[in-house]
Amino acid sequence: MKIAVRYYTRGGNTKKIAEAIAGAVGVEAKTVSEPLSGDVDILFLGSSPYAFDVADEVKAFIKGINVRVGKVVNFSTSASLRSTRKYVEKLLAEKRIPLAKEEFSCPGSFTILHRGRPDEGDVKSAAEFAKKFVS
Ligand SMILES: Cc1cc2nc3c(=O)[nH]c(=O)nc-3n(C[C@H](O)[C@H](O)[C@H](O)COP(=O)(O)O)c2cc1C
Repeated sequence: MKIAVRYYTRGGNTKKIAEAIAGAVGVEAKTVSEPLSGDVDILFLGSSPYAFDVADEVKAFIKGINVRVGKVVNFSTSASLRSTRKYVEKLLAEKRIPLAKEEFSCPGSFTILHRGRPDEGDVKSAAEFAKKFVS
């Protein structure tokens, strides 16, 4: 099974989760500035909400996908505890790329909110979540 991990981060929170997921499935976590180089069965795609949307870089990455992606597994960190699913869902539908119903989401530190998150527990949960896709 071919797996890729792509993420976008400004402050490092989503990167932490991306690296936990990538480590668990045995691939390298790369940023969305690196396009997919070939077909994949599973693409773990990480983002966080910024002013009620995902970053333009995430949108551009999805729009630019020109290989076959079996399904996307969304993961995110946020202040509101809401995932970025609804923001990426529409973009993926336009590309006819399936979005898995399973997703991983956890708090991400933002000013005085969620200090220290994602923490060790979040990292462990993310790795456990990812392992389910390869076991
Ligand atoms: C400018 C800015 C806007 C944000 N807007 C939202 C938002 O609309 N909803 C939300 O839940 N979190 C929001 N956040 C919090 C981030 O999504 C959260 O801190 C996330 O973990 C950041 O991930 P990163 O460190 O990978 O960039 C915002 C943070 C910043 C700095």
